Amino acid sequence: MSDLRTLTLRVLRSSPGEGQSPHWEDFRVEEAEGMTLFIALNEVRETLAPSLQFDFVCRAGICGSCGMLIDGRPGLACRALTRDLGPVITLAPLPVFELIGDLSVNTGKWMRGTAERLQTWIHAQTEPDLTALEAPMEPALAEAIYELDRCIECGCCVAGCGTLRMREDFVGAVGLNKIARFRLDPRDTRTDEDFYELIGDDSGVFGCMSLLGCHDVCPKGLPLQTQIAFLRRKMASTGL
Ligand code: SF4
Ligand code: SF4
Ligand code: FES
Repeated sequence: MSDLRTLTLRVLRSSPGEGQSPHWEDFRVEEAEGMTLFIALNEVRETLAPSLQFDFVCRAGICGSCGMLIDGRPGLACRALTRDLGPVITLAPLPVFELIGDLSVNTGKWMRGTAERLQTWIHAQTEPDLTALEAPMEPALAEAIYELDRCIECGCCVAGCGTLRMREDFVGAVGLNKIARFRLDPRDTRTDEDFYELIGDDSGVFGCMSLLGCHDVCPKGLPLQTQIAFLRRKMASTGL
């Protein structure tokens, strides 16, 4: 006997541009084998509500576009299997980010603003010599940098962060993770004093309440807990 169910997707719909206030709308979908929320939402859009807004690009947990609140918890719609959820699934847009409509939010604007503020690029003293051979890097160090570079900027940690709900200038776990990444990189000549200027206050690492919602919801399993604790120690000793 098949365990497939009739699902109810309870979606928080709104269209700020058209002055439509938020309201819940239910859609019924027949569950299929291996169905993800992304597939279910596509079915809703194709058969029931062509105007339903949600974002996706890769469908494989790589692009970071499909973050939303799934039963109140930030997650990726393309990685969430309906069989792991109840028959009634509530879906809402990620908080903190600018709402575009329904489940679509502008994470790109927030991420770009944070990247510019934290200057998340390699700062070198000299112009790169494009004719030079690539400089080797210890595999263990390259691996450690790569580990932090796996962030897909999905915004789940931002949406799950208590501090960000109270102060909008907080850089969030995604911002702190980026600082940790460039701090590790020997090609970046910035010192801890330079990084302190960027995150050595309450809008940076000292604003973090360490409840670790970010760590719990990161779909890529980034070591946010360790990185935030390490950065806080480093920045505290730098500021003394
Ligand atoms: S740290 Fe994790 S949760 Fe936060 S934006 Fe990156 S991948 Fe998403
Ligand atoms: S541990 Fe810090 S960055 Fe992570 S969710 Fe809590 S306040 Fe936000
Ligand atoms: S569609 Fe790319 S992460 Fe979900």
